[in-house]
Amino acid sequence: MTTPRKIILDTDPGVGIPGTDADDPIALLLALADPRLDLLGVTTTFGNCPPDLGARGARAVLEAAGRPEVPVAIGRATPIARELPQLLRAAYAGDRGKSGRIPLPEVDVATARRADEFIVETVRAHPGDVTIVAVGPQTNIAGALELAPDIDDQIASIVFMGGALGIEPTYGRGNVTPVAECNIWFDPEAASRVFAAGIPLTMVSLDVTNPVTGLVLEAETIRGWTPNSQAATMLADICSTYLDNPMFEWADGCVLYDPLAVAVAADGSIGTFEEMAIGVETTGSLTTGQTVPIRGAAPNLRACVDVDGRRVVDDLIQTILTNL
Ligand code: RIB
Ligand code: CA
Repeated sequence: MTTPRKIILDTDPGVGIPGTDADDPIALLLALADPRLDLLGVTTTFGNCPPDLGARGARAVLEAAGRPEVPVAIGRATPIARELPQLLRAAYAGDRGKSGRIPLPEVDVATARRADEFIVETVRAHPGDVTIVAVGPQTNIAGALELAPDIDDQIASIVFMGGALGIEPTYGRGNVTPVAECNIWFDPEAASRVFAAGIPLTMVSLDVTNPVTGLVLEAETIRGWTPNSQAATMLADICSTYLDNPMFEWADGCVLYDPLAVAVAADGSIGTFEEMAIGVETTGSLTTGQTVPIRGAAPNLRACVDVDGRRVVDDLIQTILTNL
């Protein structure tokens, strides 16, 4: 067997928190379960919930999976160049700012590791070997590049869930604005910095993370589970919380946006990819956060443009339930 790929999962995991997406903790479970991946650590960012609450959620998932030794570092709570969007301030003042149905361990924020520092140290400890799987706003990666500009050529690659290219006409446009996907929109300057860094990038956008590709964990499947392990119980509880409080009404089930990025990191041949030159709009009053093709420019990323989502969902759930 080939050596597992070393990854850091940069994520915004709402764990059992009503009104958050279920996909980040499922991505974490997959990162732990897939033998082709070696999870070096988790860094939390804002998005579904504040990053300190996300760290508590990540710890809960790691404990349920029997992997409490995996380090968790906490990211900054605001974008790199602007205020936290009002949408998130309001959400964090309500249910998305506190633990919900699943008990979460406490985390000592004062002594916790900082996400940007963790990324820098981990990349330097394994130069050229670490892939960052980024499934939230890209604030921590931009912060790490700010802290240590020299690490850009030591990061093996970044596989990220984010953006919308308009390839899929219904879903591939935007979910937070008509043209912007939320991971990019929440911190467009950070994404712009990452897109321009010259690091090998793989984009998993809304064009493939949607019901058209079949990337949905169906409600019927979730309701039919009889969990027989702590990890399976965690998975079922996270999904049930989502079904009762769906974030987007795209499907009767959970769209597995972020797990697809982890699956692509584990196996780069599970989809069809095209090289593209893509920039991030940071100033448009109507278009901030849009991911825009740049005509005539050299490609800066590989975008996943097609995938058999149904097969990916079946395989990844099987991997989690079998290996954890
Ligand atoms: O737009 C989809 C992204 O935002 C995913 O990372 C998901 O977790 C959601 O909150
Ligand atoms: Ca996410």
